[in-house]
Amino acid sequence: MLKIGLTGGIGCGKSTVSRLFEQLDVPILDADEVSHRLVQIGQPALETIRCVFGSEMLLENGALNRVGLKNLIFENLLAKKQLEAILHPLIFQEISNQIAVLTASYCIVSVPLLFETHSESLVNRILVVNCDVETQIERVIKRDNLPLKQIQSILATQVSAAFRQNHADDIIENSKNNTTLAEQVKKLHNFYLSLSPL
Ligand SMILES: Nc1ncnc2c1ncn2[C@@H]1O[C@H](COP(=O)(O)OP(=O)(O)OP(=O)(O)O)[C@@H](O)[C@H]1O
Ligand SMILES: [Mg+2]
Repeated sequence: MLKIGLTGGIGCGKSTVSRLFEQLDVPILDADEVSHRLVQIGQPALETIRCVFGSEMLLENGALNRVGLKNLIFENLLAKKQLEAILHPLIFQEISNQIAVLTASYCIVSVPLLFETHSESLVNRILVVNCDVETQIERVIKRDNLPLKQIQSILATQVSAAFRQNHADDIIENSKNNTTLAEQVKKLHNFYLSLSPL
């Protein structure tokens, strides 16, 4: 099956684009959702995290201490690599399992940090959602009510828009309204159907 990797910077419109493809009956797989599920209570990855990083990475109720882990990997590159080494093969495997039972012509695999996590090999083509940086920041402020400083520090951990555009097979421009967005999705949908072997 043809696998389209959907990526883009924070707030550029990946989730909005995913929903538009979903409305066209395209199956959507979401790396963030998968990684979230892999660290639920009772999942083996959570036990591995406890063994590698210590019990302080779990809350009293046994759930993952997301804030603690986020802070740890923010300041410690080795810990970040270790966490990636635990989760990435599991995410790859789970997404592959989910794809294996699909019967559609193509699917969208949403991986917000596709480039940052070197996950390009998971997909056949890369679709980047792009948005000018002022609009991007404005939309995130409105959606998440975050201070500008925090958005800027998240942006600093992500590859640049120029890098994404240079490594994209297809680009959706999302600096304008939702109608323009839906038109671009429809066009790409027809294009992906024409590429699909089914
Ligand atoms: N074309 C558009 N016009 C107006 N608002 C938009 C448009 N596209 C997206 N938005 C709004 O911008 C915000 C960010 O969009 P969305 O959540 O889809 O981005 P995202 O790339 O999934 O973000 P994240 O990286 O945080 O997951 C949302 O509130 C969404 O409703
Ligand atoms: Mg999103």
